Amino acid sequence: MKDAPIRVAVFVSGGGTNLQALIDAERAGIIKSGRISLVLSNRAGAQALVRAQAAGIPTAHVPRRALDHTLEPLMRAYAIDLIVLAGFLCILPAHFTRLYEGRMINIHPALIPAFSGEGYYGIKVHEAALARGVKITGATVHYVNEECDGGKIIAQRAVAVHEDDTPETLQARVMRLAEWRILPRAVEQVAREIRYERI
Ligand code: GRF
Repeated sequence: MKDAPIRVAVFVSGGGTNLQALIDAERAGIIKSGRISLVLSNRAGAQALVRAQAAGIPTAHVPRRALDHTLEPLMRAYAIDLIVLAGFLCILPAHFTRLYEGRMINIHPALIPAFSGEGYYGIKVHEAALARGVKITGATVHYVNEECDGGKIIAQRAVAVHEDDTPETLQARVMRLAEWRILPRAVEQVAREIRYERI
């Protein structure tokens, strides 16, 4: 069907709390223009895969060394229209990011351009924010291009840094107050745009 929800793949590496926010948002009808149709992890033991299986979503484990030659045929096999990087810790091959230009988005746990680019991932981002002494940080959803964290910004939300924050407490607050809120809305926005283009 031409106006059916578009097919979304979520790429993960770890806990999958952002994935869970997407699954919950789809159930709640916040995401209605897309359907999570595949969850891919580079790590076999990722808790995110357990979350996907519990939700009845097909999963794939593709180790880092196999990404280069596996991704394209796999996305074709699942007819994937939109890719969401939700805590995916691998750099994707340039030919693949080009193929999905305008159809691949990422969540970054800082207000880009602060604390972003090469080497800024996971807890390191929050360590850097605390070391610099910023009073405000947050999260950003952006399109993925060949430049690390360099694509067009779709959504951002600010979060206050507390005096007594550790990287872990700050990470938890950024996830709860920013990431889990802006990512589902951004997915719906981009999925709706892709779906309209197709009709
Ligand atoms: C999130 O902070 C994400 O922004 C970052 O890695 C973390 C992944 O968390 N890049 P989860 O796997 O979604 O729980």
